[in-house]
Amino acid sequence: MSTTESTPNFRIGVIGCGYWGPNHVRNFNAVSGCTVGAICDTNDMRLAHMAKLYPDVAIFRDMSTMLAEADLDAVVIALPVRLHYSVAKACLEAGKHVLIEKPMASSSAECEELISLSEAKGLTLMVGHTFLYSEPVRRIVEIIKQGDIGELQYINSQRLNLGLFQTDINVAWDLAPHDISIILQVFGASPLTVNCQGNAHITKGIEDVTNISLSFPDARFATVQSSWLEPRKVRQTTFVGSKRMIVYDDLQPLEKVRVYDVRVERPPHYDSFAEFQYSYHYGDSYIPRLKHEEPLKVQSEHFLDCIRTGNSPISDGYQGLELVRILESCSQSLGEGGGPIALAPRIHRNVNDAVGSREKRKPA
Ligand SMILES: NC(=O)c1ccc[n+]([C@@H]2O[C@H](COP(=O)([O-])OP(=O)(O)OC[C@H]3O[C@@H](n4cnc5c(N)ncnc54)[C@H](O)[C@@H]3O)[C@@H](O)[C@H]2O)c1
Repeated sequence: MSTTESTPNFRIGVIGCGYWGPNHVRNFNAVSGCTVGAICDTNDMRLAHMAKLYPDVAIFRDMSTMLAEADLDAVVIALPVRLHYSVAKACLEAGKHVLIEKPMASSSAECEELISLSEAKGLTLMVGHTFLYSEPVRRIVEIIKQGDIGELQYINSQRLNLGLFQTDINVAWDLAPHDISIILQVFGASPLTVNCQGNAHITKGIEDVTNISLSFPDARFATVQSSWLEPRKVRQTTFVGSKRMIVYDDLQPLEKVRVYDVRVERPPHYDSFAEFQYSYHYGDSYIPRLKHEEPLKVQSEHFLDCIRTGNSPISDGYQGLELVRILESCSQSLGEGGGPIALAPRIHRNVNDAVGSREKRKPA
């Protein structure tokens, strides 16, 4: 993820300035080679708040007016998920590079259409899978790929909190994209099956607690627990390898990643059951040194870099599509009482592709 210093100044528009959009405005303003040129929100209070913070930025209530009047190169979409597709489509049709928040859209058909449109127009399409740009996750992927924990056997991820309740998507669509994007990156493969169980305790029809199981090739699997109905905030992922294990606790201020030298071994051979003894190994644990970088800043720089170079983003439209396909399977499984849903093999390129190894589009 490199940045190019001596580059033209890109003008960015941010649509949606509720909870998350202002973080994009702040980060893109801090990145060299770009300026936030316009902000759009339908809520006058939010617009007034943003105008106070950024008096030099043009403010719009209507996206079409913004696209017509503001001279923008790219647009960031931080809207409720049901609006992602229509707004991203309008932005791509207007010739803007697009960064959409997760999940990319409400259905895989919508994602496929956005990918086709961006390719036809030669525009960068990126999805805000923010954790892929965080130093702890990048470091964990590195440690696992180097073979330091042996064979990765399973991943268990928990994202729990009291709220924030959403009204248009369930907790799996809201919170699990973070965990699933990390899991896909670490396994470097798509799941074979998806199971999801859950319950709607507060809002009828909108599950506030879900448990997802993903099975992967070679008998590996991952579980993801998501909840808006927990007394404590938990953001924890455990990676269990045959030699070592990693715990990633995103709520720790400094020591977010800890590698445990623990494992269990079976005796190589034994004659009777009485001789059988599991061997528990308890070694030292260590805390990898991590750079302190805001993931959103790294993500913003990567987006600009991909626009400039024509490289495919780490979290490109295909990654966004893959995640939405899994979420769709979760919804289907929920509707069928939690049974397994076989995920059709991906028709498109491989999630395992290295960054920038895909076809390059014409650089901006
Ligand atoms: N990557 C992350 O870590 C992360 C974190 C939080 C949220 N998100 C994502 O960001 C997106 C937004 O989430 P949020 O929590 O900020 O939602 P939010 O409801 O707080 O904000 C949405 C904003 O969009 C505005 N809006 C609605 N319709 C509009 C329209 N047609 N045109 C312009 N503005 C309109 C609303 O007035 C509101 O201010 C979601 O996709 C969410 O999943 C990502």
